[in-house]
Amino acid sequence: AAALADEGDPRDWVAKMEKNNKRCTMFYGSQTGTAEEYAIRLAKEAKSKFGISSLVCDPEEYDFAKLDAVPSDKVVFFVVATYGEGEPTDNAQEFMEFLMDPDVEFSQGREGNEKLDNLRYVIFGLGNRTYEHYNEVARKIDRRLTELGAKRIGERGEGDDDKSMEEDYLGWKDGMWTALGQELQIEEGAGGDVADFVVTEIGDDSDLPVDKIYHGELSARALLGTKGTHDVKNPYLAPIKVARELFSVDAERNCVHVEFDIKDSGMTYQHGDHCGVWPSNPDVEVERMLCVLGLTEKRHVAINIESLDPTLAKVPFPTPATYEAIFRHYIDISATASRQALAMFAQFAPTPEAAAKLTRLGTDKEAYHEEVDGPALKLAEVLQHVAGDDVEAVPNVENTTVWRNIPFDRIVSSIHRLQPRYYSISSSSKLHPDSIHITAVVLKYESKSSNAHKGKKRWVYGVGTNFILNVKAAHAGEDAPLMAEKGSAAPAVVSSSAGSGVNTPTYRITGPRDSHFKAGSYLVPIHVRRSTFRLPTSPKVPVIMIGPGTGVAPFRGFVQERLAAAKRTVDKAGPGASPEETLKDWADMYLFYGCRKEDEDFLYREEWPEYIKGLGGKLHLETAFSRGGKRKPDGSKIYVQDLVWDLRDTLTKLILEKRAYIYICGDAKHMAKSVEEMLMKMLGEAKGGTAEVEGAKEFKLLKERNRLLLDVWS
Ligand code: FAD
Ligand code: 2AM
Repeated sequence: AAALADEGDPRDWVAKMEKNNKRCTMFYGSQTGTAEEYAIRLAKEAKSKFGISSLVCDPEEYDFAKLDAVPSDKVVFFVVATYGEGEPTDNAQEFMEFLMDPDVEFSQGREGNEKLDNLRYVIFGLGNRTYEHYNEVARKIDRRLTELGAKRIGERGEGDDDKSMEEDYLGWKDGMWTALGQELQIEEGAGGDVADFVVTEIGDDSDLPVDKIYHGELSARALLGTKGTHDVKNPYLAPIKVARELFSVDAERNCVHVEFDIKDSGMTYQHGDHCGVWPSNPDVEVERMLCVLGLTEKRHVAINIESLDPTLAKVPFPTPATYEAIFRHYIDISATASRQALAMFAQFAPTPEAAAKLTRLGTDKEAYHEEVDGPALKLAEVLQHVAGDDVEAVPNVENTTVWRNIPFDRIVSSIHRLQPRYYSISSSSKLHPDSIHITAVVLKYESKSSNAHKGKKRWVYGVGTNFILNVKAAHAGEDAPLMAEKGSAAPAVVSSSAGSGVNTPTYRITGPRDSHFKAGSYLVPIHVRRSTFRLPTSPKVPVIMIGPGTGVAPFRGFVQERLAAAKRTVDKAGPGASPEETLKDWADMYLFYGCRKEDEDFLYREEWPEYIKGLGGKLHLETAFSRGGKRKPDGSKIYVQDLVWDLRDTLTKLILEKRAYIYICGDAKHMAKSVEEMLMKMLGEAKGGTAEVEGAKEFKLLKERNRLLLDVWS
């Protein structure tokens, strides 16, 4: 019957569990993949801790009427994210509707608070504390299951995406596993450490042609050179048309304007879309990994990777690939090492001392924060640190202890895939059909100081933006070449001249046929992600754009979009027509822009007057300079929201009477919140009430009607 059920009803997960001898099912409510990843980790840990195997399931594909048919020696896990206003992820929506239905009916038809009295469950929620409805989906599911008679095992776990997801998870899971062991009466230690992948080196005697080996290509189509559309699965290798610094030379920071050439790509975009940029890792980190793992001589050796159980672990990048390509292009070796990975790697340490130190860092939260997380040490740096190497030196085979015993499959399963970075496109396809412009502020910050590192702070460099900074330097012929030194194992260099006197890591291509290097120039893999951040179609609808810092990026695109339409209209009006006269019944565009100093980081300063002219004065640029400029009477800084407040009479008229659209773009953590509060205050006042009641109501209405749109990031 079970086999029949499995074939007959693919939505019957309980039958599937029975048939395949699984004791747990992990359902994940996941939007970007994080919850899914945690669900997979839980399944793996159930295996290694207790030797029990699990199904990992997308709730969308299964029938939850079966919840009352789960035998009591099995456990169902819910790993669920909460979004926006307390909403479930798309793939968990149907499940939530089903479960929350007051008259919910399950397959066995039991009644009242006995409907689910068979069910044992574990729950972990992923949320973000900066939002009002923190982890609401997990809380609701938990409450509802209990109400229906189900029994929770362990505490409800809650992770905060804003700050401490990993620590919240680690802090929760041990207690949960203990409770699970007791409930199911199973002993820990039954499973043993299991590998996810089988890795095989492709020897010299292999007949695999070299052009079947991945050297950084991001898709099979790229490797085979077959034509096809370009998207997230097959990014386009874009030549650089223009790359230049936007901040003034003596500013301490960098902001890079890049124009990618998409003429021959078949790609299209709209103003407001996002451009995904696929970075590479800096040379110094590629070398560090090769040195630590003793692979410097084998950098061009290719390996094949196969998954032992593709339902639990997919091979995260294309193979066969060379060791060097894996470190340079495919995995995120620059991220701060995770505590769990450190605990796992201790068993492979070259000396007992290093093993003890690593175990301590992997298990003692305080020690981890002090020595790893605070100073933002990468995995290879921690391995160097516990082996007594000098982490600050340029790594080479002489100064680096080799961790020979680490099986490569552990590297594959414990380091994430290198992800694309997204940038709000700062051009309009009407004005620039053949290029995509982005505006990227280069991330470089000082880590916390740490006693373990003699109280020193370290510079931490954002991977994607420093890569872009190098692309710019290479394009300008500056001394940070993304040049191929054929086959050489050039020692990593930290260039001092990559960008306006800022110390930045260099990104060098050393492989003889690295995919990113063609005909003497470097190509950057990019793709376009569609968004709904768009102008109203009619130029007679007013818009209010609020975007300080790089938040101005999409608004440059918006303004260009309207400018292109304005040019057409003026041209049509005939020779001698002026924009002022021709566009007089067009609506106003307000752009609120803020930066630190007018003469340092004022983005596209020289372009705005041209746009204002072309739009016949319909564009109003309002600027707030927060450092060294005017201050409020109480001495505090003037920000964009203060300018909004000053213009509240005009703006509320545009919003309430002329149906204006409002856009906010840029920093999600502080700016967007402050701006939202100010808008509520302004709307509250205009409605003769308060920010909290009338303001919040009007604000919500605008959002619901898609007249208030956000493009924010943290
Ligand atoms: P990474 O190597 O990814 O490092 C970033 C991480 O460093 C952060 O997640 C955080 O954990 C840590 N971190 C950062 N600052 C600090 C600090 N002070 N202290 C401690 N830790 C810190 N960026 C733009 O410049 N322009 C844009 O137009 C733009 N548009 C975006 C649109 C969207 C939809 C999104 C999601 C993001 C956008 N971003 C934009 C941000 C961009 O995608 C990258 O996140 C950013 O450029 C940093 O990437 P990176 O690879 O250099 O840094
Ligand atoms: P500051 O760094 O001098 O505080 C772009 O980053 C601009 O946004 C800068 O002028 C920055 O000012 C400003 N900014 C910082 N926090 C802000 C907030 N909460 N609201 C609006 N602008 C802010």
